[in-house]
Amino acid sequence: MKHCIGPNDYSKDDILELITLAEDIIANPKQYANACKGKQLATLFYEPSTRTRLSFTSAMLSLGGQVIGFDDAQCTSVSKGETLPDTIRVVSNYVDIIAMRHFKEGAALVASQYGSVPIINAGDGSHMHPTQTLTDLLTIHKELGRFDNLTIGLCGDLKYGRTVYSLIDAMKKYDNIHFVLIANKGLELNSEVLHDLKTYNNLTFTIKENLVDALGMLDVLYMTRVQKERFTNDSDYETSKHSFVLDAQKMTLAKEHMIVLHPLPRVDEISVEVDNDPRAAYFRQAGNGKYIRMALILKLLEGYDIASSKEKIYSVGDKQCCNTICVTQSEPVRYLSYNLDSKSHCAYCDYIIK
Ligand code: CP
Repeated sequence: MKHCIGPNDYSKDDILELITLAEDIIANPKQYANACKGKQLATLFYEPSTRTRLSFTSAMLSLGGQVIGFDDAQCTSVSKGETLPDTIRVVSNYVDIIAMRHFKEGAALVASQYGSVPIINAGDGSHMHPTQTLTDLLTIHKELGRFDNLTIGLCGDLKYGRTVYSLIDAMKKYDNIHFVLIANKGLELNSEVLHDLKTYNNLTFTIKENLVDALGMLDVLYMTRVQKERFTNDSDYETSKHSFVLDAQKMTLAKEHMIVLHPLPRVDEISVEVDNDPRAAYFRQAGNGKYIRMALILKLLEGYDIASSKEKIYSVGDKQCCNTICVTQSEPVRYLSYNLDSKSHCAYCDYIIK
């Protein structure tokens, strides 16, 4: 079975193939209008979404397929206590492919273990958002024409932003990447991820305390929103929310060909006055999301070998993951782990198991 669970499911060749297909769909949409005729997609969204759910829906409809699903799990039998494995087993009977978003980290991996159709991870907690990363990569490719030799500023909530972790993972595949990390107080990049970054010869990073010091060196500025929904109390959010705001004045410090990306939704971290700057690529980025998802649906329905040859080797364990939002805390799944750098990691959310 072939799925799309995390950004490491794709090699450089896989990414280029998907991007080439997405660009062909953009250039020749009529040629793909019946490509999924007779096929059905289920969008199972346990968390709110505008772009991801609607772009998946639009993608399948534009391929000639049909879409069913839910955007409020409380209106489904989840509210009666149905488990995720059971829901996935059932929905697999009705459709050819499933895109799902869940608040538990590792939920998409669980779904892939129980479903009988391809599963696409449309975001699992603060963990992964691989189709956003493919959207980001398509946008970088269209706007800048390269993935190597880039200086990328990551600004805002680097702790809870799943799009940031997924983009970092994807960029590890390319040469001469320099990250500039500009985090809100208390929302710095996870120390494990920072440690991991130091182990890559093709990657370097610097930490900056403000956006003004970083802007002049960047090819890509990736802005993010403080993820209010991930905080367990309001006072921590109030302390952290005072964020970096990109405005027209600051844009005067940026390179002529820098692009500003944002997975959206934005709150107040980019002033609306920036929207008309040609370097503001975030609405073009959101548009690209539909086309890369069309490419992904097509490839997965063709049985595209994205993940199967690169699956991690998991061991069955007896220790529960201590991440309170790991899917293993609430769903009846086996504890699985893998080893990396002599440490045992939860297979679902990647936390170190102590
Ligand atoms: N970028 C993104 O995931 O947006 P939504 O939450 O609206 O889907």
